[in-house]
Amino acid sequence: MTDVPPPYTAVARHGMSPTPDHDEAARFNFLAGFNKYLSAGIGGGNARTYATRVLPGFVAEHAREPADRFEIRRAMNRDPWHRFWSACKRNSMEMRQHNGRQMVLRQLDELDGRAAQYNAGRATLVLDPAVEVPRYQRAVDIHCMPGSYHGEERAGDVSAGANYDCGIFATTGGGLGALNDGGGAALVEWARRERPGWQPQRILDIGATVGHNIVPLALAFPDAEIIAIDTAAPVLRYGHARAQSLGAANLRFVQMSGEAIGFPDGYFDWVQTTMFLHELSGTALPRVIAEGVRVLKPGGLMLHLEQPQYSDEMPLYEQFIRDWDAFNNNEPFWSAMHGLDLKKVMRDAGLPDVFVTGVRAVVDESVFPDQSKQVEDHGRAAVWNAYGAWKPTA
Ligand SMILES: C[S@@+](CC[C@H](N)C(=O)[O-])C[C@H]1O[C@@H](n2cnc3c(N)ncnc32)[C@H](O)[C@@H]1O
Repeated sequence: MTDVPPPYTAVARHGMSPTPDHDEAARFNFLAGFNKYLSAGIGGGNARTYATRVLPGFVAEHAREPADRFEIRRAMNRDPWHRFWSACKRNSMEMRQHNGRQMVLRQLDELDGRAAQYNAGRATLVLDPAVEVPRYQRAVDIHCMPGSYHGEERAGDVSAGANYDCGIFATTGGGLGALNDGGGAALVEWARRERPGWQPQRILDIGATVGHNIVPLALAFPDAEIIAIDTAAPVLRYGHARAQSLGAANLRFVQMSGEAIGFPDGYFDWVQTTMFLHELSGTALPRVIAEGVRVLKPGGLMLHLEQPQYSDEMPLYEQFIRDWDAFNNNEPFWSAMHGLDLKKVMRDAGLPDVFVTGVRAVVDESVFPDQSKQVEDHGRAAVWNAYGAWKPTA
């Protein structure tokens, strides 16, 4: 292993942070290191086994090379090295969920109590029990998270949000920074560089979960009205309390679907999502984009941060390895979504000039590994594409 993730104690604490005991912190430390070892360490063996064993075997059997990422997956799934690596990776995810759930459930009374103090009577948290959790979100436990984002251990709790927050450090090997907000921090940097002096008045974040990546925007634009929507109440309860404790007073959490955004046409200057589109069904995704365009002001910005879409320029092996989560980590829409022509979906929704730009997590490099030296994790790294467009004014 070339470098080691920072310890769990480097994760910044906020008013809602679950407190790890010695063993829980030790397990997260193990998992952060293990994940890094699986990606930057032994992960490279997948490419070698493909080049030296699986591809030659495929060509010998079929007298041609694989035609797509699915054929590579079927062939690789028979290879002992890849099976071993894949089983370790799946297990690391299950262990992460197990540790996070255990840590949260043992202190759930206290966490719910803290959330109540931050949330009770605040107009900045708007829950609407009439909002349905979409069917595509209920079908599986997304990335092995028991109960997905909407599950409750008991009515009105914050367990799903707390579990999501406390373990993301382990999954990413510390790649998202002390508050797991390296994506949001990168968006702020990007906006300041791209449009110096721009002061958006209203920003909408769709599928905000606990608000990791919208809090940096709320803090960077304190005079703006910032709305974070999500269909899952437990993550909104937790996210609102977390944001309040971090001083993001201008950030409102609203239970609402991106498929039916309850704001007027042209209301927002900036409509954005972070690592969200890949969890939408094929029907929901274009609807969410169209709704986003509707509520966007002419001249406003739409921006989606995601792992790079597959394209003809991306080698099939790279597409295959990036597809791992779709088949092994309960991400049912990952593969189809990354195969979409996202630019076309955005153009069809009324944004003719779509741009794509690379974005890396912005983190405190004195504590967290220098992102520019990180080995690409093929699907998990804090290295994204931003798919963006300014809405035409006429
Ligand atoms: C991968 S998470 C997004 C991560 C988050 N944007 C961040 O930056 O940390 C996906 C989120 O989308 C929410 N979601 C799924 N379908 C939705 C919809 N139609 N409208 C709003 N939120 C939705 C889920 O409840 C979940 O919290």
